Amino acid sequence: MTESCGHSGAPDVNPEQRAEVVFRDRTATGYAGLVAERGHYWWYTVQQFLLRCMGLQRGGWLYDAGCGVGVYALKIAEEFPTVRILAVDFSACSLELLRESARERGLSERIVCVQADITQWVAPSPVRWVLCTEVLQHIPTQDLRLRALQCFAKSLMPGGELWMVVARYTCRDQHRRIPKEIDERAGGGYFRMRFVPDELRGLMRQAGFSRMHLFGAPVPPARIGQRLPRKLWKFALWLQRVPGSFWMGRVLIARARLC
Ligand SMILES: C[S@@+](CC[C@H](N)C(=O)[O-])C[C@H]1O[C@@H](n2cnc3c(N)ncnc32)[C@H](O)[C@@H]1O
Repeated sequence: MTESCGHSGAPDVNPEQRAEVVFRDRTATGYAGLVAERGHYWWYTVQQFLLRCMGLQRGGWLYDAGCGVGVYALKIAEEFPTVRILAVDFSACSLELLRESARERGLSERIVCVQADITQWVAPSPVRWVLCTEVLQHIPTQDLRLRALQCFAKSLMPGGELWMVVARYTCRDQHRRIPKEIDERAGGGYFRMRFVPDELRGLMRQAGFSRMHLFGAPVPPARIGQRLPRKLWKFALWLQRVPGSFWMGRVLIARARLC
C-alpha cells in the first residue's frame, strides 16, 4: 500500500515525467470531477464498452497502469467481485484518494495500490489483464512509451490481454491545425499527444504484441454528447464493434495479446 500523500517521497520516476508527478499530486482532488464533465454518454461508450468486452467475469488479477484516483479500478472492483486489482500510479496523492474511496466502499481487500513508474514496473506475478486508460498519451518520448508497453508485455500471463484507451488524432484536428503533441512541462504542466491508429499498432508490435484490434468510440464534443438521448446509446456500442470503427470519434480503444 502507498504511504500518505505528501510524505511518500517520489518513487524512482523517469526524469522526463518528474514535473508531471508534481502536477498530478496537485490536481488529484479535482480529477474525478473534471472527467465527469464529459457526461454519462462519454463514459458509457468508453468505460462500459471496455467492461463489457474484457471478459472480467472470468476473475483474476488486473494491473491498472496509471490508475489515477481509480475511476476504472473502483468501478471494476465493484462490478466484478472475482477481479483483484494492482493499481499503479506515480502520484502518491492520487493513490491516497483511491485508497480512501476503496475503504469507504469496502473494496480495500481487492485493490492493492502501488506507487511506481509504469515505464519500469513489472507485476510481481503475471496478470490476466493490463488496463491502461489515457496514460500512454502523457508519456513524453517514444522510447518511454515503448518501455511501458514492454513492461505490460512482461506483466501478462500467457493468453492475457492488454487494453488501452488513448486520444485519437483526427482529420478535424489536422484541419484545425491542432498540434499532435503539446508539451507544457516547462510551465508546470504535462505532455499530451494524440495517436493515429498505425502509430499505436506499430508501438504495440514493437513491444511484442501481435494480435491487435482497434476500436473507436463515437464520442462527439461533450456539449453534443450530453444531449444524445439514452435510447441511442446502445447503438453506439454496436457501432464500436464494426470493423474500421477506429476511424470514428476522438478515442481509440486497443486490445492486444502477445501471440
Ligand atoms: C489522465 S490520468 C488517467 C487516470 C486513469 N487511468 C483514468 O482513466 O481515469 C493519467 C494518470 O497516469 C499517471 N501516469 C502518467 N505517467 C505515468 C508513469 N510513467 N507511471 C505511473 N503513472 C503515470 C498520472 O499520474 C495520472 O494519474
